[in-house]
Amino acid sequence: MFPIVSNDLIAPNLYRMVIRAPRIARSRQPGQFVIVHADQEAERIPLTIADADIDRGTVTLFVQAVGYSTCRLTALPAGTSLRDLAGPLGRPTEIKPWGRVACIGGGVGTAVLYPLAKALAEAGNQVISVIGGRNADLIILADELAEFCVEVLVATEDGSRGRQGFVTHVLQGLIADPRSIPQAVYAVGPVPMMKAVTEMTRPHQIRTIVSLNPIMIDGTGMCGGCRVVVGGELKFACVDGPEFDGHLVDFDLLADRLSTYRTEECKMIRKLPE
Ligand code: FES
Repeated sequence: MFPIVSNDLIAPNLYRMVIRAPRIARSRQPGQFVIVHADQEAERIPLTIADADIDRGTVTLFVQAVGYSTCRLTALPAGTSLRDLAGPLGRPTEIKPWGRVACIGGGVGTAVLYPLAKALAEAGNQVISVIGGRNADLIILADELAEFCVEVLVATEDGSRGRQGFVTHVLQGLIADPRSIPQAVYAVGPVPMMKAVTEMTRPHQIRTIVSLNPIMIDGTGMCGGCRVVVGGELKFACVDGPEFDGHLVDFDLLADRLSTYRTEECKMIRKLPE
C-alpha cells in the first residue's frame, strides 16, 4: 500500500497529490511516469512524476479529475492509501545542452512539463516556459517555474492572465525574433496543441519533443493499449516513450485512439456518487 501524504485542490478539478513511495522517489528521472491503481473498482491511470523528495520518500503527482477513475482517485483523502503504484516507467527525458529551450505547457500539461523544464535548466539551458489555459484559474506552477526559468510567459484564452490567445501565439513570437528563437522545443498538453506546435517549428527545423498521453493499461509493453505511430513505425508509448520527436508523430491517429472509449467513460461517470 502507498500512503497519501497530502491531496490538495490547486485549480478547478486539478489536485496535487503527494504519495509515500521511497523506492520510486529514489530512482525516478525526469519524464518518467507511474501507473496508479486507486482501488479495486478503478482503472489504472498513467501519471507523470512531477517531483520527488528522496529524504521524505515521496513523489508528487498532479491529477485532473475528468473521468471515472481520476474522480475516484482524487476523492481519496490524506491518510488513506493507494492500492498500487507501479514505476518509475518509461524512458527519461532527453536532456541536452541545447542553449535556449522553449517549454510549452497547455492546461495540466504544465505539471508534466515542470520536471522536464527543471532538468533542462539544471543542465545549463536557458529555459523559457510558455504556459496556457482557458482562464487564469487554470494557470498552474507559474511561480515554481519562475524559480529556474529565464522567463515564464502566460497565455489565456479569455485574456484574464498574460497574453490573450494560445501558447502557440506566444511561441510564434519567440520563433519570429532571432534573439529569442529556441534551439529546442518541448511541448506537453492537448493533442491539437502539440500538433500545432510541431507544425510551427517544422519549417524552422527546430528539434521538437512531445510527451504523449495515450490510453495505457499495463505500462510495460505487454498490452498494446498505448500504441502510437511515429515515423511510420508502431511504437508503445509506455516503453518507447512517452516522449517522441514531434515532427514524426501521427497526431490524428493518436486523437482518434484517445476518443475510443468516450461513450463508456460517460456511462461510468454517471455511476459516481454525487
Ligand atoms: Fe500496455 Fe503500453 S500500456 S503496451
